[in-house]
Amino acid sequence: MFDKDFIFGAATASYQIEGYVDKDGRCESIWDTFCKKEGAIADGSDGTKVCESYVKYKDDVKTLKALGVNAYRFSIAWPRVITKENKPNKKGINYYIKLCKELLKYNIRPVVTIYHWDMPQWIADLGGFLNDKIVDYFEYYTDVITKALSGLVKDFITINEPQCILHMGHAACAFAPGIKYSDKEMLKAIHNLLKCHGIATKVIRKNINNSTVGFAPCSRPMCPSDRNNKLLEEKCYQKYFTVDRSFEYANSVAIYSDPIFLGDYPKSYYEDFKDVLPNITKEDLELISQPLDYIYQNIYSGNYYSLDDNNNLVKHNFDFGYPEGNIDWLQVVPEALYYGPKYLYKRYKLPIIISENGLCNADVISLDFKVHDPQRIDYMKRYLLELEKVSKEIEVKGYFAWSLFDNFEWSSGLRKRFGLVYVDYKTGQRIKKDSFYAYKKIIKNRGV
Ligand code: GAL
Repeated sequence: MFDKDFIFGAATASYQIEGYVDKDGRCESIWDTFCKKEGAIADGSDGTKVCESYVKYKDDVKTLKALGVNAYRFSIAWPRVITKENKPNKKGINYYIKLCKELLKYNIRPVVTIYHWDMPQWIADLGGFLNDKIVDYFEYYTDVITKALSGLVKDFITINEPQCILHMGHAACAFAPGIKYSDKEMLKAIHNLLKCHGIATKVIRKNINNSTVGFAPCSRPMCPSDRNNKLLEEKCYQKYFTVDRSFEYANSVAIYSDPIFLGDYPKSYYEDFKDVLPNITKEDLELISQPLDYIYQNIYSGNYYSLDDNNNLVKHNFDFGYPEGNIDWLQVVPEALYYGPKYLYKRYKLPIIISENGLCNADVISLDFKVHDPQRIDYMKRYLLELEKVSKEIEVKGYFAWSLFDNFEWSSGLRKRFGLVYVDYKTGQRIKKDSFYAYKKIIKNRGV
């Protein structure tokens, strides 16, 4: 059982749910542009309509109330809040003020993500994270939105999943803006992104009394296939924090979290990347490592490992008969919600909040007009049992289900469904899935 202050929340992100992309002076984002590229989105869809939360926010909040959550994590759309001329956009800002007021009416705590991937296109045109001026733009944007939300919001997450922004956006190029970076460019972009996080933290502290601030990366924890093998667990722990230049380093954990929580990049970074290092000053590292309140982490999946005869790690694909995620990267590994928090707490020593966790499932409206998703219920219960287990050993403060609604699943489009509430994109109809009621019961009982 989780204690009575435990945060049981649900999460969404602006571009994935708001729709109304041309309304009230919102400027173009990199996702608007990316969606227009031939073949970029699996089903050719985009964020122009999606869940229409920009106008249905009162209904969204009622749904949250019915679910019984005590917190709602959503993100601000930078292009709604700041104009092309880099000035505040009152109408866009107002939307978030109204949303927060509505949440507070029902005693639901707003947890605000400043940046969940929808960069204004005009800033990307100036170089995005490669342009050192991004730090000033980010500072200004954070200042505008936190001043507007002061008195309404205490809890902020600066940036969601830097790995998807930089690895998916600039190495794999499957996400916006889909522009390939060299290693030198990638390291510079990582450094600038971390500086944006640092400056935003400072601004939040200045504008919001008693704020809490965090950063929300994602990870796939390495899980020992034998829970009693301590050597195996230690090796998994080491691997989880390894930054390997030859393999998806912009997708790793320590390249972002070490500078933030430990004040510097891992030692191996300076050695392995010595020919492509950005300019890193003492002041930068101080800025990046502002004290934070929580370690947020998005965890959906993981990998099992065992040891071979020479005690080297070997990856395994076990078939435990668990349901499978209906998206290629989502293997069901419930232990990820035990080992991930454990490893993170061991290294960075702050309370943990799971900022996203959920299952992509092939949901359909049944003949009884309901949506039966036993797979998602099974997934959620297995993962929460692991989180409950680790919360007896370390401080775990909260869990956000991804997602409140089915929504625009980035390059996978609208066909991949993660919601507790089904959305019929043609009619706009919303149907609470069985998992909605299951989560409601879990929240009520404070455990599975
Ligand atoms: C995360 C992301 C969310 C959501 C989710 C499911 O990577 O932060 O926006 O799409 O994954 O794929």
